[in-house]
Amino acid sequence: MALTEKQEVLVKESWEILKQNIPEYSIRLFLRIMEVAPQAKNMFSFLRDSDEIPQNNPKLQAHAVKVFKLTCESVIQLRECGAVAIAGSTMKHLGSVHLKIGVTDRQFDVVRDALLRTIEEAVGEKWSEEMEGAWGAGYDQLAAAILAEMKDDA
Ligand code: HEM
Repeated sequence: MALTEKQEVLVKESWEILKQNIPEYSIRLFLRIMEVAPQAKNMFSFLRDSDEIPQNNPKLQAHAVKVFKLTCESVIQLRECGAVAIAGSTMKHLGSVHLKIGVTDRQFDVVRDALLRTIEEAVGEKWSEEMEGAWGAGYDQLAAAILAEMKDDA
C-alpha cells in the first residue's frame, strides 16, 4: 500500500505524543496483549515471575518502545522508498530472537491490534482512519520482514 505524505506526518505526530509518556503507554500495550493472549506472558523474561504487569520495568518499556519506534520508522521508509529498509543485521537479530522464543504469526496479529488500540487511546481525538492505515501498514511490513527472517532461520 502506498502511503501519503500526510500519513507520514500523522504517524510522526502520534509518535511525539507516545514519547511523552512511555511508561504509561508501554504498560497499556502489554495489558492489551495479555488480555488477548495470556499465554504470551511466560515468553517475556520480565513477566514470567510476576502476577501482574510490573510498573516501571525497563525491559518492558524497551520492548514497547522498540515496537512503537520501529513501526514508526517503517512507515517513514515505506513512504520514502516503498519498502521497509531496516538494516539487515537488525532484521536478522530480530528474526532469531523471536524464532528462539517461539513467537507465532497469530501473536504478531495480537500485538498489531494492541499497538493500534494503544495509539488510538493515546492520541484521543486526533485518531483517524488515515492514521490507523499508516500505522497498520508500517507494522504489517515490519512484521512480515521479521517473520521472513524467522522462516529463513528455521
Ligand atoms: C524481544 C522487537 C513483536 C515477543 C524483542 C526485542 C526487540 C523486539 C527489539 C529485543 C531483542 C534483544 O533482546 O536484543 C519487536 C518488534 C515487534 C515484535 C519490532 C513487532 C513488529 C513481538 C511479538 C511477540 C514478541 C508479536 C510475542 C508476543 C518478544 C519477547 C522478547 C522480544 C518475548 C524477549 C523479551 C525478554 O524477555 O527480554 N522484540 N518485537 N515480540 N520480543 Fe519482540
